[in-house]
Amino acid sequence: MTTKEIRQGFLDFFAAKGHQIVPSAPIVVKNDPTLMFTNAGMNQFKDLFLGEAAIKFPRVADTQRCLRVSGKHNDLEEVGIDTYHHTMFEMLGNWSFGDYFKKEALAWSWELLTEVYKIPKDRLYVSVFAGDDKEGLPKDQEAYDIWKELISEDRILLGNKKDNFWEMGETGPCGPCSEIHVDMRPDSERIKVDGSKLVNQDDPQVIEIWNNVFMQFNRLKNGSLEKLPNQHVDTGMGLERLVRVIQNKTSNYDTDVFQPLIQFISEESRIPYAGDSNPGEEGWGTSVAMRVMADHIRAICFCIADGTLPSNNKAGYVVRRILRRAVRYAYTFLGFKEPFMNKLVPILADQFEGVFPELKKQQDFVQKVVLEEELSFLRTLATGIQRFERFETNDKIIKGDFAFELYDTFGFPIDLTELMAREKGWTVDMKGFEAELQKQKDRSRAATAIDTGDWVIVNEDEEVEFVGYDYLECECRILKYRKVSAKGKDQVQLVLNRTPFYAESGGQAGDSGKLEDHSGLFEYQITDTRKENGLIIHFMDEAPQDPSGSFRAVVDFEKRKATENNHSATHLLHAALKQVLGDHVNQKGSLVNSEYLRFDFSHFSKLSDQELAEVEAIVNRKIRENISLKEQRDVPYQEAVNSGVTALFGEKYGDFVRVITFDDHFSKELCGGTHVKATGQIAYMKIISESAVAAGVRRIEAITAGSAEQYFNNQAQQIKGLKELLKNPNDLLKSVETILEENSRLKKEVEKSILERAAGLKHELVKNAVQINGVNLIAKQVELPNTDAVKNLAYAIKDMINDLFLVLACDIEGKPSLTVMVSENLVKEKNLNAGNIVRELAKEIQGGGGGQPFFATAGGKDSSGLTNALNKAQSFIS
Ligand code: ALA
Repeated sequence: MTTKEIRQGFLDFFAAKGHQIVPSAPIVVKNDPTLMFTNAGMNQFKDLFLGEAAIKFPRVADTQRCLRVSGKHNDLEEVGIDTYHHTMFEMLGNWSFGDYFKKEALAWSWELLTEVYKIPKDRLYVSVFAGDDKEGLPKDQEAYDIWKELISEDRILLGNKKDNFWEMGETGPCGPCSEIHVDMRPDSERIKVDGSKLVNQDDPQVIEIWNNVFMQFNRLKNGSLEKLPNQHVDTGMGLERLVRVIQNKTSNYDTDVFQPLIQFISEESRIPYAGDSNPGEEGWGTSVAMRVMADHIRAICFCIADGTLPSNNKAGYVVRRILRRAVRYAYTFLGFKEPFMNKLVPILADQFEGVFPELKKQQDFVQKVVLEEELSFLRTLATGIQRFERFETNDKIIKGDFAFELYDTFGFPIDLTELMAREKGWTVDMKGFEAELQKQKDRSRAATAIDTGDWVIVNEDEEVEFVGYDYLECECRILKYRKVSAKGKDQVQLVLNRTPFYAESGGQAGDSGKLEDHSGLFEYQITDTRKENGLIIHFMDEAPQDPSGSFRAVVDFEKRKATENNHSATHLLHAALKQVLGDHVNQKGSLVNSEYLRFDFSHFSKLSDQELAEVEAIVNRKIRENISLKEQRDVPYQEAVNSGVTALFGEKYGDFVRVITFDDHFSKELCGGTHVKATGQIAYMKIISESAVAAGVRRIEAITAGSAEQYFNNQAQQIKGLKELLKNPNDLLKSVETILEENSRLKKEVEKSILERAAGLKHELVKNAVQINGVNLIAKQVELPNTDAVKNLAYAIKDMINDLFLVLACDIEGKPSLTVMVSENLVKEKNLNAGNIVRELAKEIQGGGGGQPFFATAGGKDSSGLTNALNKAQSFIS
């Protein structure tokens, strides 16, 4: 079976068992502060487990793109070194939300593995949670008994909390789990050592393939376990491992998942892939490098396709680290000194066409981003490696400050430095590195720790209703609240049972407004609204004195309207950009608030003035057409996509979506934001800037309605002022042009006359030079318009006369200056130094200066001292 058939086999199997097949969520997580990347198939269902969202389908299955490179689940160190861990992998999963439980889940996984995929039963082992006294959790006897019906008892193993109690992260849904392991060793070895002894022992041939989790608890911040309202099933099976088992290989990299990539790398580097050789053996380094590259490109591509570009913070930095790790392997072990990783993008895009189509659709964009990132890292990589090779250590430790230099100056992520150190048998002083990093962070005050208190429950949990599409005010009750403190500021977060407040998402800023107490005596400002998983969180400075009663929630109307203008204008802009530039334009980021809109999109070159004007004109025409908003809620996702809506890459859409249309033939987007009732309300859209944000991503900023009006008023005001200054000419542009021309003509004339004057002065001064003690002294006040002219004069005199000691005093618009020039022979023979002399003379004009021994200048404050300065110079020479 090919990977494609194996994946489809899984989905078909569970579809036949009544499961709804859903698309993978993006690999980058947006609305969950506890998680950066999707690390398991269940992430997108977290709020269903916690009872915070309504269950639409009780049985669901999918293949989810996952990344385990940070946080609780982190496999990065193993990747490439071994043959069965990955950064990005596909997790096949089936779920029951309060529907079937252990019996069906375990029986079905057994049926699929042994009857559909035909994995020999005598190669399988299962594990069951042994219980944990500290947590007060019993052994999972129920799972044990179910397995007993399916598999002989000597193949059922008991596992501790580490292996058999699955948790999503530090907090969140969790429960006991039952794993299925497969023993891939040859019979000769299987006879010698029983497979049961090798389960969970890091044997590369005895590996876990499937995990059935029985979700029953929520891990709270204080470490305790809270029972979930319902019992659920969450399973996960690594596709790449499953494929390896079915295709009967000893390494995931030998399957049709990775071979196309590895073969290409091998051909291009002209180095054969050495397979799963051992450390120290011939070809070990090059084969690790090939595995790392083939693995990492997958993580990189899907992160970028899902909207996270390499950058210096958060998820973006993780992408950068992974890419740099791969580039360094390619460089050091395979001799790729030019960008290479980007060439793998098309292979991957073809592989995933029809599975995760977002990659094929953005192939050019992703490839360009990878290429740019490679180029920028390769510029410093070689120097960094040289620095590293020259580094000497007696104790085999790389000190913190050097690791930090590699990080800061050469862009080496710390795990890369660690890896290079390990290859030499060295270690990195991580404490020292962290300290350096902390110092830098303190310097830029980047630390933004957020401290969150526990929820205080006010009313029984019920489903939260958002009414903000239809109302800006409503009656409500407080469900719960908690204190948070961020950047030294204390705030309160509040969840209401019903709310008109739009929570920040899809780029649209959250609403602000107020909460009125029912007595009408108190009102509390709501400063912001944000989303956390399924919850709508209102931010306030203080909690209501008595949170128990009923309240009236009131949105700031003006602000919301202004925001809506900008949001609807963004949709029009997106459509206009596609029309003018082409279909490759895709939204890469958006910010919409009451002041302006910012729209990032994929496009490879700067927009010309003409293109910008065209885009603006289309948008404004659509505004004037006063197109009514067509808002459709709860459209099945597939139906919406079939009707040609613009869905965004990297967004997680539910099974039912909201479609916002302004003119069926113009703009149709999946969007959860709020919009104008008709486009006329936007009044006007003015683009105020166009710039680059990253490789292949442009940014447009624009304003609408009141802000646009203000913008034009300001412009008009400036033009009016200008006209008045120019005495109301008929043609403003023409008269400014005339003034500029005249100005440049006059400038030239002035320069010419200065030159003439200076020439006259030059002869006069030379003629009047006095000989004292073998020195030709000139000490005079001259009238010239700027210091450059004085300097030129000094140099010209120097060329005309030997043994020169020249002091020029000048007063330029009240500012006195002194210039001293000494012939070079005098500098040597008489030990004269223009710099020292000018400093001494400058005292007379309350100033200071300096320069070289033969030429120096000084400026001052007191022009009346110029004559004294000249006299002083004269007596000095005398
Ligand atoms: N959520 C479980 C896991 O990731 C299935 O292993």
